[in-house]
Amino acid sequence: MSKYITTPIYYVNGEAHIGHAYTTFIADTMTRYEKLKGEDTYFLTGTDEHGQKIEESAQKYGKPTQEFADEISATFKNLWDEFEISYDKFIRTTDSDHKKGVQKAFEVMYAKGDIYKDFYEGHYCVSCETFFPETQLVDGEFCPDCGRATSIVKEESYFFKLSKYEDALLKHYADNPDFILPRSRANEVINFVKGGLRDLSVTRTSFTWGVKMPESLNDDKHVMYVWLDALMNYITALGYGKDDANMKYWPASTQFVGKDILRFHAIYWPAFLMSLDLPLPEHIGAHGWWTRDGEKMSKSKGNVVSPREVADAYGVENLRYFMLREVPFGQDGDFSQRALIDRINSELSNDLGNLLNRIIGMSGKYSDFEIDSVDVLKYHKKELDAMDEALSNLDDFMQNMQTHRYLEELWKLFAIGNKAIEEYAPWVKMKENKRDEALATVALVANILAKASIMLSPVMPKTTNIIADALNFTIDNSSYKELVLEKKLLKLFNIKSVPPLFPRVEEPLMTEAPAAQPNAPKNTAPEVKDDKKEEDNLIEIGQFFETSLKVGIVVEAEEVPKSKKLLKLQVDLGEGINRQVVAGIKEFYCAESLLNTQVCVVANLKPAKLMGMMSEGMLLAAKDEDGLCLIRPEKPKKVGTPIG
Ligand code: MSP
Repeated sequence: MSKYITTPIYYVNGEAHIGHAYTTFIADTMTRYEKLKGEDTYFLTGTDEHGQKIEESAQKYGKPTQEFADEISATFKNLWDEFEISYDKFIRTTDSDHKKGVQKAFEVMYAKGDIYKDFYEGHYCVSCETFFPETQLVDGEFCPDCGRATSIVKEESYFFKLSKYEDALLKHYADNPDFILPRSRANEVINFVKGGLRDLSVTRTSFTWGVKMPESLNDDKHVMYVWLDALMNYITALGYGKDDANMKYWPASTQFVGKDILRFHAIYWPAFLMSLDLPLPEHIGAHGWWTRDGEKMSKSKGNVVSPREVADAYGVENLRYFMLREVPFGQDGDFSQRALIDRINSELSNDLGNLLNRIIGMSGKYSDFEIDSVDVLKYHKKELDAMDEALSNLDDFMQNMQTHRYLEELWKLFAIGNKAIEEYAPWVKMKENKRDEALATVALVANILAKASIMLSPVMPKTTNIIADALNFTIDNSSYKELVLEKKLLKLFNIKSVPPLFPRVEEPLMTEAPAAQPNAPKNTAPEVKDDKKEEDNLIEIGQFFETSLKVGIVVEAEEVPKSKKLLKLQVDLGEGINRQVVAGIKEFYCAESLLNTQVCVVANLKPAKLMGMMSEGMLLAAKDEDGLCLIRPEKPKKVGTPIG
């Protein structure tokens, strides 16, 4: 069966930052992994170029919109090319084939009776290209996602009958528990759908920078809503709308998205596909957000991390490794030079790089660089078994997008290799005249490095090719089959010297972001070591930051019947979909008084059931003999603002 992997298409209103790079790295890694396994895999990425936001950005820069879009789109494409991202197609929504495909889809949905004309009036956020109901606005005016002022828009619009697909969507989520990954994210989508879906306005008359209506509708006033246009890229890239489209790769196997755009991909997109009578993708994988030194990245703070800058300083593959190792898929991650340097020095340089250098050195001394696996099984069955076990666990982790677990498991191989060298000390064996044993240990490590490099290659393709070259083999589907699946050992070969692959990094190689400096100790806090008792009571700053605290706004609140203590709240944390929080505060707050007030929420708490209701977070509160009060920001903050 073929595979089809996609990234979101990136808006062309600014250059790529590490959040974009992260999505692209995961998708590229997954593609390379599938190809390594011999799967016929197609990888799509590209740029999203229509809509009012892009039109306004172009005006700000004094450029014709198309020229502006061309320039920014090229910066994404060039960056991915520099990073050797293995995409098969880079789509642009201004491509004429794409526009035709979107018009065709619109016609099909219209003919089916799923699109009708009416009027729309609502609060519209230009920046997010989204309408919001009044109850969700901050202070009755500001966008709950980005905090910018919304404007009231009343216009004639075509509507998509989203409400018609409510039951079918709920059934699909229930029948396919892995449709949304990680599974923990499915609840917010299901709750949103259960809350009732309103038909979706899918055209605009207030601007012109968008895909025009199909000619058959003869209605030039309208252009397509940018999300309808954008989502269709996943099928127009395969030729949807063309007479000769073969759509061989559809349905997609995995569509990667950030958590902020999960609602569009897990609700609107499948509903559009149902309307088009097309099958739904197998997985929508929603990843978390990256911050820098614990702070949200923004142009105004000047702390946006440029992936090119990091790659120039530290190497793109080190950055790939760091990002995929650092965060559990689905959770937010923090970029800091300290954390990156720590991983380069301890995991890449010490665990992996040194291991290779050690066997190059030893085989040079003991066997003129010749490595023979002949005695490995005799002396190292225990290590081979442990290695095979770790290797056999890898596929599950990758299929579930748990790249951090995948790499953690893979690193067990290097631990086995390093431990074997310490335990069997080949240099002692040589002195004791046990040359066979010494050489078997060196060959064991060579095999470990070979097998691990194959499995590391989707994450670090170039570096692992250098290792493979030193070990005289090529990383491809046949070496994957022989060395990993069939568990064969390397044939007799001569190892080659290589320059150190991961030079140690002694100090940060980039200037720190202005906003990050005052907080720099966040990630580098010295350990308290002098007083045992104090140490017991203190936590590392990193432990504190494992708790994700965020500012949210209560958009719905109701009493839980038959409960003395519980209120059921819907809290907007800027994730596109509200969280349900069941809080034990009924004795101190009436439900109504909480509406549209800000709260501080523990956002990465495992969901729990309270009186049969899911609770997906916890409110911060202080309680003493006078009662309980909620902890709130002193001044209103944008929803989703991290606390810490
Ligand atoms: N154009 C839409 C997607 C349309 S897909 C049919 C869009 N573009 S975007 O450029 O704003 O974002 C693209 C992706 O980058 C999203 O998945 C988003 O989650 C991700 N990120 C943007 N900022 C991010 C971080 N700070 N961290 C991680 N990813 C983030 O949305």
